[in-house]
Amino acid sequence: MSNLAIVAESLTYQYGDLTAVDHINFQVAEGEILGFLGPNGAGKSTTVRMLTGQLLPKAGKATLLGLDIARQTKQVQAQIGVCFENTNLYEQMSALDNLKLFARLYGSNVNVEALLNQVGLEGRGKDKVQTYSKGMKQRLMVARALVNQPRILFLDEPTDGLDPVSSETIRNIIKEEQRRGTTVFLTTHDMLEADKLSDRVAFINQGKIVALDTPHKLKQQYGKRAIMAEVELADGRLETREITLDEANTGTAVAELFATEKVVTLHSEEATLEDIFIQITGRSLT
Ligand SMILES: Nc1ncnc2c1ncn2[C@@H]1O[C@H](COP(=O)(O)OP(=O)(O)OP(=O)(O)O)[C@@H](O)[C@H]1O
Ligand SMILES: [Mg+2]
Repeated sequence: MSNLAIVAESLTYQYGDLTAVDHINFQVAEGEILGFLGPNGAGKSTTVRMLTGQLLPKAGKATLLGLDIARQTKQVQAQIGVCFENTNLYEQMSALDNLKLFARLYGSNVNVEALLNQVGLEGRGKDKVQTYSKGMKQRLMVARALVNQPRILFLDEPTDGLDPVSSETIRNIIKEEQRRGTTVFLTTHDMLEADKLSDRVAFINQGKIVALDTPHKLKQQYGKRAIMAEVELADGRLETREITLDEANTGTAVAELFATEKVVTLHSEEATLEDIFIQITGRSLT
């Protein structure tokens, strides 16, 4: 088994009487992308804040790269990158100056121009951040999280509110980081994004992890696969027939369909992560 980048053991946080994160356990291997998926208020950001040393767990512990984040906070923080929901960039400064400032804080001699290129902001580095669009700021935030060439990258809803093109740019940056060997902890409530990017996904609901596996295995375990056929009736009307796959009578049902009906279109359907989340928790992700 590969080395573990993150180990969460019984990690817990309460805000007053409210238990936001409730004794969660999980492990992330080095180089893995873990999608942390759950609806608003599920406890995703609170988990990220504990894992990155911004909140001290009320119970349990988190070990990153073999170090306890609550005890060896500085050593851990030197090796991780964090991109949070709300941007806190210096708006009056240029993008390059924002990155240079952060690089200095980390004592990093990273090439900030190359970093800007990596997130597709080449040529815009001298512009003040206040002139940037939301998508550009978000990409700059990702670049800033990369100044110390982190071994683990935490991204809290990095594509929230962005258009499809900006979102795709950020997904490509994440994949590129993974190719460099970076571990990625990604929170999102976009199930398609989680499905596309993650090696494994954790479903979090009301502070508890209710499922954790590869998207493929979750679909195998919880989702049913089906064939949807559109058939034409004698009077020309169209109707839909559904045949569930992976059942004993699937073969005969398909043969019967073709023998007795005029099939116009045929396609297969697989459960989405959203379907499975609803099945497990009884609630929607949005
Ligand atoms: N500073 C705070 N003080 C009190 N309660 C808080 C605070 N921050 C979060 N909470 C509560 O803790 C719970 C978990 O919040 P958290 O921000 O971790 O959820 P989330 O999964 O990140 O949600 P979202 O998708 O909306 O970002 C929610 O019920 C929230 O209201
Ligand atoms: Mg959040």
